[in-house]
Parts: sequence; C-alpha cells; structure tokens
Amino acid sequence: MDTMGANMSVQLTRQDEFALITLDRQEALNALSAAVLRELEQAFDEVAASDARALIVTGAGTKAFCAGADIKELTGRSLSEQRRDAAFGQAVLSRLDILPMPSVAAINGYAYGGGLELALACTFRVAVATAKMGLPEIKLGLIPGYGGTQRLPRAVGEARALEMILCGRTVDAEEAVRIGLVHRIVDGDPVQAAIGFARGFSDYGLPALRLARDAVRRALEVPLHEGLKIEVDLNTLAFQTEDAVEGMNAFMEKRRPQFKDR
Ligand code: CAA
Repeated sequence: MDTMGANMSVQLTRQDEFALITLDRQEALNALSAAVLRELEQAFDEVAASDARALIVTGAGTKAFCAGADIKELTGRSLSEQRRDAAFGQAVLSRLDILPMPSVAAINGYAYGGGLELALACTFRVAVATAKMGLPEIKLGLIPGYGGTQRLPRAVGEARALEMILCGRTVDAEEAVRIGLVHRIVDGDPVQAAIGFARGFSDYGLPALRLARDAVRRALEVPLHEGLKIEVDLNTLAFQTEDAVEGMNAFMEKRRPQFKDR
C-alpha cells in the first residue's frame, strides 16, 4: 500500500496486516477541512482496494483525535455550499462505514463534532483514559452534519444521544464505555491497542465479517420479522462460501481453519 504524500494531512501507512490512517493537522487539532475530507476519501478508497485485514483510524499527537469540521471554513458559507459540504462529509464517512474490512477508531484525545462522527463511522472504538467525546455543534448554533444524529443514537440510544446533542454535553472515556460509545479504555499507545483489538477478528474471513456487519446494521433499520428474514438470507450466503466449508471441516478435523476470503 502506498504511503500518501508526507505534506498531506492524512497519512496512510501499513503495520503488519493492518492499514493505519492518521489525521495529522495538529495545529488545528486534526480538524476536518474540505482538503482533509478529500484526502480521507482517497485513503478510504485505497484501503478498500488493499488486502488489509482491518483499518485503524487515529489522530496525530496526544491532544486530539479530531476536533470536528474546520469551523474557520464554515463561516460565511451559503446554504447550498453548506448542504453540499454536509452531503460530501456524510458520503466520505459512509465509505468508511462500508469498507470491506472492519475498522477501529483509536481515540487518542478530543473527538468532537465531525471527529466523533468519524469515530462513529468506524466499526469499533477504543479510547485513551483522557479522551473526551461529544457533539458540541449546538454551541455553534448548529447541529451535527456528518452522520452524528443518526449514528450516535444507534450506538448509545435515543435518550443519551439527545442529551449529548441538545446539551452539547461531552463524555469522558469512562462514561463512553459505560454508555456503549467506546468498547474499551486502553493504556499506552492507542494505535497498538487498536491493533490488539483488531486481532480479535482479523483471522476470520472477510465475507463472513461483512455479512455479520450487514445483518447487525440492518437489525436497527427494519422490523424484527424482516430482520429475521435478512438474517436467514445472509446466513445462507455465508454458508455458501469456501470459508464456511473450510471452517466446518477444520472443526471436524480438530485444526485451525485457513480462511481465504472466498
Ligand atoms: N476547526 C478549526 N480549528 C480548530 C477546531 C475546529 N473544529 N478546533 C480547534 N481548532 C484550532 C483552534 O482554533 C486553535 O487554533 P489557533 O491557535 O490558530 O487559534 C487550535 O486548534 C487549538 O485549539 P484551542 O486553542 O481551542 O485548544 P484548547 O485546548 O483550548 O481547546 C477544544 C480544545 C475544546 C477541542 C477546542 O478547540 C474546541 O472546542 N474546538 C471546537 C470543537 C467543535 O466545536 N467541534 C465541532 C465543529 S462543527 C462540526 O464538526 C459539524 C459537523 O457535524 C461536521
């Protein structure tokens, strides 16, 4: 996998079988300017086409994961420019959400606004003990625009999401774990901890991982009886993969399965 240009704010690198995206615009707490969003879009496309088993997303430095949309760029925009920006930001984060491989946000500091929305578009989230998370747009007279009003309630429930969004209340890492926003508080290097988390699934076949993600995502979008039908269909699809044959054979033969993503 190529490492993107050193003068860019989004670094794409590789550690073992894991792709790592680092937002590196520390003078603005890694805020998402339009240029950063375009770089992220390109990086997600490169990761999607790669053989990485998982993607880790983090922020450079120890202060911020990402402080949100670039507020300096927001001012003075027309309504149609703002609509286009929100739709673009959503589309970029949706690319992350539907990558072929799962992703883990390594939240190394502030994750505010678009920064938390970036973390919410990852499959999983781990955070350092000092991390702070929130959707403070209401304090700017705004509401979230990169998916926060949709993904936060799916993660923490309507009541908690409403409190965070309407009161602009931030949560620390401990509370984030308690409410289901973050999976784990991690010690030491958050990227290595996120890689450790990713090792919990990275040996499994990507087709089954993807079908499981699809099934769970759709659980929150459709009535139960339709969700159960979806599960039957996706379960049957998984059953037809070579990996399923290998997984079941390996069990019978008392050996470790060798999944091939087929
Ligand atoms: N956009 C642009 N620049 C930002 C920024 C942002 N979101 N957040 C921080 N910065 C800049 C600051 O302007 C400052 O730059 P200067 O030194 O040039 O003034 C630098 O980063 C350091 O920030 P602070 O001095 O503010 O650092 P702090 O430690 O005092 O505070 C903070 C840290 C509490 C995170 C504070 O920076 C903050 O509240 N930032 C804004 C957070 C926010 O409101 N995010 C939501 C943005 S809107 C959005 O994201 C909409 C959406 O849904 C997409």
